[in-house]
Amino acid sequence: MSKKIIIASHKGGVNKSTIAANLGLGFANDKKKVLMIDTDSQANLSKKYLKDNYRKVDGIYELLKGEDVNNCIHHTGYENLDIIPAKQQLSVAKKEMLLSMHGIQQQKLMRSLIPVIDKYDLLIFDTAPGLDIMTFNVFQFLDGTGLLIIPVVPDSNKIEDSDSIEGMNLLLEEISESIKAGENIKPRFKVLLTEVDNDEVSNEFKLITKSHFKEKAFITEIPFSAKHARRRDNFVIEKNRTKISRCYKQLIDEIKEEL
Ligand SMILES: Nc1ncnc2c1ncn2[C@@H]1O[C@H](COP(=O)(O)OP(=O)(O)OP(=O)(O)O)[C@@H](O)[C@H]1O
Ligand SMILES: [Mg+2]
Repeated sequence: MSKKIIIASHKGGVNKSTIAANLGLGFANDKKKVLMIDTDSQANLSKKYLKDNYRKVDGIYELLKGEDVNNCIHHTGYENLDIIPAKQQLSVAKKEMLLSMHGIQQQKLMRSLIPVIDKYDLLIFDTAPGLDIMTFNVFQFLDGTGLLIIPVVPDSNKIEDSDSIEGMNLLLEEISESIKAGENIKPRFKVLLTEVDNDEVSNEFKLITKSHFKEKAFITEIPFSAKHARRRDNFVIEKNRTKISRCYKQLIDEIKEEL
């Protein structure tokens, strides 16, 4: 049965798409057959892998409109790595889902992906910041084979004072509620510290996060990299000798134990 990784956060700009891109390529390099699903109309993950073509091909928007899922999957050019891309129009599909006569359609994505799910070892979902109808659709995959990764970037507020823990708790509550009622599924999640610097703010934030989340925080942390802060389109995992690529590989090892 295929495994699922979902990367989501109530916050924007916390490296969700970068993490999805690197886990996708990392697991594919590890001989796993991976399907990445971009559910964010900003389409950053799609741009990374399909360049300008992401606009021209069928993707998640068309899938939700009833297109055959096989026509919405595209090869990235990397062995074992496919993607269902997003594009701007996805926001229209989201509105239609909300306005649907049949109530909120939280199972639509799950139903559309059924024909291909077991062709892959791993499905990786990138999501839009915050909680929207598309993200609730993605949360339906958080059954026993799914792992939610919540990235968190250290900020200068102490974590007790900031909205980080509160935001994450809200996210987790919303997920539990959104998952099929009555099945009492406890979503599996882990917090990932990212853009971690070697300074007082990061050190303090790290300590507080790890003591709050304990085994629910990854041991691996992704370091801050000034180079990545400036560029939007690089795949760090390919550059084997950099510290950040070593961290992504270590993260993959940790996830393998979890899945
Ligand atoms: N380790 C890192 N250190 C510094 N900057 C990073 C690092 N990883 C990614 N970035 C940069 O941080 C920015 C935000 O990353 P990304 O787009 O992955 O976040 P996101 O959570 O997907 O954002 P959004 O909520 O808008 O979808 C990008 O410019 C990216 O290149
Ligand atoms: Mg993103």
